[in-house]
Amino acid sequence: MKKIIPMMLCAAAVLLFASCKEKTVPEFIDDKPAKNTAMENLLTRRSVRQYTDQMPPMEVIEEICKAGTYAPTGMNKQSPIIIAVTNREMRDSLSRLNARVLGNDSIDPFYGAPVVLVVLADKDSSYTYLEDGSLVMGNLMNAAHAKGLGSCWIHRAKEVFESEEGKQILADLGIEGNYVGIGNCILGYVDGEYPEAKPRKENWVYWVK
Ligand SMILES: Cc1cc2nc3c(=O)[nH]c(=O)nc-3n(C[C@H](O)[C@H](O)[C@H](O)COP(=O)(O)O)c2cc1C
Repeated sequence: MKKIIPMMLCAAAVLLFASCKEKTVPEFIDDKPAKNTAMENLLTRRSVRQYTDQMPPMEVIEEICKAGTYAPTGMNKQSPIIIAVTNREMRDSLSRLNARVLGNDSIDPFYGAPVVLVVLADKDSSYTYLEDGSLVMGNLMNAAHAKGLGSCWIHRAKEVFESEEGKQILADLGIEGNYVGIGNCILGYVDGEYPEAKPRKENWVYWVK
């Protein structure tokens, strides 16, 4: 009996310590998530506008594309497609076409990123094609961040794939259908400082409790 009581006291102390420890692990420190969670990933992803030339591993790019394909789509029509471009020549052609839409041929709207994941969605397959494609873009950017890569949504995919050159690219790839460009998700290793989030505006959320 003399031995059992100290053992029980020890066990109780261990349990008390464990439960206190669990409760005191903070989820947020100074407004930033303290743990590496999906929440942290969502809150810390930023648009990156400076990249190194280094090509990320193909498996990582494939995993990011896979995350894109798991985005929700209206009625599960899976209206979007992803054109995963790691080919330098094609990446540069898309950059040139994008710059032309901007009206400034002398810039690289892809900020030097070596990879471009172009998201298009078939207008005829779903009336939620735009929302479907936008969610794919969101998944791609968040997955890129989770994998340690920088990313940014670069717009004007719509205009690029409405142009004759854009249509020819789709035809050359054997892509048939009423595909509308949704966005270009550029990817690569971040060059320089990782950007800080801008302050959130007031009244983002209206509560009805
Ligand atoms: C629909 C859409 C279009 C965008 N187009 C561009 C673009 O063409 N070029 C660019 O540098 N950033 C573009 N962005 C990135 C936004 O500028 C960026 O998300 C915003 O400034 C907030 O910064 P954050 O992503 O770091 O939070 C786009 C973002 C969205 C959602």
